Amino acid sequence: MNNYTEEINRRRTFAIISHPDAGKTTLTEKFLLYGGAINLAGSVKGKATARHAVSDWMGIEKERGISVTSSVLQFEYDGYCINILDTPGHQDFSEDTYRTLMAADSAVMVIDASKGVEAQTRKLFKVCVMRKIPIFTFINKLDRDANDTFDLLDEIEKELGIATCPLNWPIGSGKEFKGVYDRETKTVISYSDTEKGTKEGTATEVSVEDEGTLRALIGDSAADKLLEEVELLDGASAEFDLDAVQAGDLTPVCFGSALTNFGVEIFLKHFLKMTTTPLPRKADIGVIAPAENDFSAFVFKIQANMNKAHRDRIAFMRICSGKFDANMEVRHVQGNKVMRLSQPQQIMADERKILTEAYAGDIIGVFDPGIFSIGDTICMPKEKFKYEGIPTFAPEHFARVRQMDTMKRKQFVKGIEQIAQEGAIQIFQEFNTGLEEIIVGVVGVLQFDVLKYRLENEYNVEIRLENLPYEHIRWIENKEEVDIDKLTGTSDMKKVKDMKGNPLLLFVNSWSIGMTLDRNKGLVLSEFSRN
Ligand code: G4P
Repeated sequence: MNNYTEEINRRRTFAIISHPDAGKTTLTEKFLLYGGAINLAGSVKGKATARHAVSDWMGIEKERGISVTSSVLQFEYDGYCINILDTPGHQDFSEDTYRTLMAADSAVMVIDASKGVEAQTRKLFKVCVMRKIPIFTFINKLDRDANDTFDLLDEIEKELGIATCPLNWPIGSGKEFKGVYDRETKTVISYSDTEKGTKEGTATEVSVEDEGTLRALIGDSAADKLLEEVELLDGASAEFDLDAVQAGDLTPVCFGSALTNFGVEIFLKHFLKMTTTPLPRKADIGVIAPAENDFSAFVFKIQANMNKAHRDRIAFMRICSGKFDANMEVRHVQGNKVMRLSQPQQIMADERKILTEAYAGDIIGVFDPGIFSIGDTICMPKEKFKYEGIPTFAPEHFARVRQMDTMKRKQFVKGIEQIAQEGAIQIFQEFNTGLEEIIVGVVGVLQFDVLKYRLENEYNVEIRLENLPYEHIRWIENKEEVDIDKLTGTSDMKKVKDMKGNPLLLFVNSWSIGMTLDRNKGLVLSEFSRN
C-alpha cells in the first residue's frame, strides 16, 4: 500500500442531478452544514447570483465568479472527503452540465415530491446510465403536499428504467407529514418542523412493533395507512442489492425535506456507505486503477474568462489516479509537453484556494493559456497514455450564423472555431452544398448569447443568429456502411457535418427520426459522438 491509498479511499466524488427548483441548492447547503464547511446554510450561492438574468451576466464584465466558484465543493464529513460537482441548470444548462457528469463517480438525483420526474432530470439521468454509475434518489419537499409514494416510485421505474429500493417511507405529506419509517431498523422517525437553516431537530424514534406508542405519536389513521403500505412494500419492492446499486441498475430512495432538514443527514449517511470510492477509468493502455498508479487526470471542462483584460481560461481536471503535488512536472499528452500546472486551485465553499496537493477523486482548476482541450490527458512525464475521450453530446437548439461585415471573415472563423474548441458551442456545415454557411448547435440557449457577446467583445465581429427549427441531432454511427447521398429521410431532415467531417442528421421532431430509421434499414444513429 502506498502512502496515498487511504486518502483516495476516503474520497467520494458525485454530482447532484435535478430539475431546477427541486431543491439541489438547498440539499447541497445542508450537506455542507453537516460537514461544518459553513456555519449557516444559505451561503453556498446567493439566490440573486444563482439565478442571474442573462442581461446581468452579460453586462457585468467580470470573471464568471459564481459559476467557477460553485463548480466544485469539497468538504469533510465523518472521515470522508467529499467532492460535490455542480451541474448548472436554468439558463446555464449547457454541454458542460453533461461533461461534469463524466467527472463524477456517482450521482444524487433530487426529485420534487409534487412534480415527479422532470425534463432536466431525465436528460442528465441518460448520461449517468451511459456511464453506469450508481444513482441515489432523494425525494424532496415532503413538508408540502406530495404525489402518492407508490406512484412516484412507479414513475421513476417507468420513465427512467431503473429499479427503485426505498430505504425509508414517508408518512403523509404537507400539513399531514408525520415523518418517515426506516425500513432497516423498522422504526418511525417523527417529523418536527425544525428550524430552517439549523441542524436536524430532535425527532422521536418509535419501533413499529410498539403499536401503542406509534399510534399515540402519529395518530390512528396515519398508523393504519403506514402498516398497510409497509406490508405492500415489503411484498412488492426490489430487494436491496449493493452490487445492483453500484452497477447503476437499482437506485436507493430516501424521502425527506431539505428545507426543514428532515431526512437529509440520514440520506447522506446511507449514501456515503453505499456509494463508491474513486472509480478506475479506461485509457488506451488499459484500465487505470486510482490507488495503484501515479498521478493522472483528464480535462472535463474549460471555463473561459469573461474579463477582456484576462483572456485566460480555467481548465478543470478530474484526478483519476495517484497524488498530485503542485511542484511536480507532468505531461500534457495531447500537447506532447512536460510542464508544471499553473496555479492549481481547489474550490472550497465559496472561496478558491491555491492547493499544494490533491488526490484521485479530486477536481482541480488550473489556468489555461489556451493549450488544453476537453478530454485531454495529463500524466507523469515518463508516461504517455490517453484516457478515453469525452463524448460530444447532442445540441438541442440550432441557428444559422450570419456575419454582418463580410470583410471580417478571418476573425469570424478564428473566433467561432476557438469558442467551439473550448466546447461552449458546436459548429456544423451543410453537406455537399459548397455553401460556407455555419450552423451553430447548443445544448442551452444561453450559449447563443455567449457566442454573440464573445465574438463582439473578443474578436470584434458582429453576427446575426437566425434560429432553425431543428431540435434533434444524430450522429451516424455506421458511417462507413452508409451512403450519405442516398439517405432518404423526411422532407424537413437536414444533412450536415461537424468540424471533423462526421456526417450528422438534423430533425425537427422525434417522429422524423423514427421515419428515417424506418426508411433506411441498417442505419444506426446516436445521441453521443465519441469521435
Ligand atoms: P434548485 O437548486 O434545485 O433550483 O432548488 P433550490 O434549492 O434553490 O430550491 C428551490 C425552492 O424550493 C426554494 O424556494 C427552496 O427554498 C425550496 N425548497 C427546497 N427544498 C424544500 C423543501 O424540502 N421543502 C419546501 N417546502 N421547499 C423547499 P424559493 O422560494 O424559490 O427560494 P427561497 O426564497 O426560499 O430561497
